[in-house]
Amino acid sequence: RGGREGKEREQLRTAVLLYLSAVFGFSTTCVFTALLFLPLQLKGHCSGVHGGGGEGVERGRVAVILEQGTPLQMIQLLQTPWEDRFRVCLDLVRLLHFLSRSPLGSVGLLDFQPRQFITVSGQLKLTDLDDVSAGEIACWTDADCTLKFPHRNFTVPCSTRGVCDGLNEKRNIYNAYRFFFTYLLPHQAPPGLTHLVDHIMNTTGELKADINQTLEAFEQILLLYKSGLHLDNLHPSALRDMSPSGNGEYRCWPSYSQQGCVLSVHSAREAAYICNSHSQCNSFTLTGQKTWTGEKLSSFGHLVPDSASEVYVKKSKVPQSPSS
Ligand SMILES: *[C@@H]1O[C@H](CO)[C@@H](O)[C@H](O)[C@H]1NC(C)=O
Ligand SMILES: *[C@@H]1O[C@H](CO)[C@@H](O)[C@H](O)[C@H]1NC(C)=O
Ligand SMILES: *[C@@H]1O[C@H](CO)[C@@H](O)[C@H](O)[C@H]1NC(C)=O
Repeated sequence: RGGREGKEREQLRTAVLLYLSAVFGFSTTCVFTALLFLPLQLKGHCSGVHGGGGEGVERGRVAVILEQGTPLQMIQLLQTPWEDRFRVCLDLVRLLHFLSRSPLGSVGLLDFQPRQFITVSGQLKLTDLDDVSAGEIACWTDADCTLKFPHRNFTVPCSTRGVCDGLNEKRNIYNAYRFFFTYLLPHQAPPGLTHLVDHIMNTTGELKADINQTLEAFEQILLLYKSGLHLDNLHPSALRDMSPSGNGEYRCWPSYSQQGCVLSVHSAREAAYICNSHSQCNSFTLTGQKTWTGEKLSSFGHLVPDSASEVYVKKSKVPQSPSS
């Protein structure tokens, strides 16, 4: 690609080679080219093909070079809005898709603890990859190709080539399900998307979908979410009870702001729907700010007085039905 990127890549390559030879005292081969253009911005990776020394990166092991970021804090992440939790899962699936057909063959992550990951401006990245298996495992029988997890075992067939085809990919998908999706995806998913989220939970938890199908399912959710199509059956009357123009600040969870109730919405109609479902809400403001998907940040119950904002106030309180 362009000259600047080429130069940056070259500088990075030189710096990394210097670093590795200083730390490990041997030379290694590194692949930087295509990887730099991944959405994940893996900066490159090195595999242990070396002439002598014997120290450092062993044959069949890889080192991956990445940006600096914040370690993934699961507890913190659990308290963030669904959109941000979805992003972490989507990034992870994109990474696993890449790893399933990387230049080193299919790569399995052996350590899937959240501490292996970092986020850089909200985007998920991998941190040091000590524990990976590159290339498929050799086998004699199907029994050699068993994945053992605390609550489930899975077996893939031993291929005629004598390798467990797709074992790394399957291990990655199930670990993504068990360490990430289970905690991050289902809770507070937008109502119009829950059937798709449930489908992903089931196909990954049962290893019924490969990484391509899983990525497709995630991208479809992203597309629907960004387009607002999942909101199509929100009743248009939601906005009728609102009129564009008192402060009744309240808190909600998970909110983009510690004070008050700030949520991301696709449209004024969705915001009106949310406001109608919060008993304390008597107004909302569409601020000019947007999230990573382009959703608008909306402040509920709190008037944001600036020229970029649209303010809506309830005309009259809708009487509550006795059953609710
Ligand atoms: C998985 O396999 C191991 C041994 O192969 C067995 O002891 C264990 O009970 C199995 N676990 C499940 C959940 O089937
Ligand atoms: C997937 O769906 C089937 C059928 O509804 C159910 O029995 C199974 O427990 C589900 N598995 C997971 C992991 O959600
Ligand atoms: C998965 O997608 C890649 C391209 O991203 C393609 O080359 C590969 O054949 C697909 N694999 C399957 C099993 O469909």
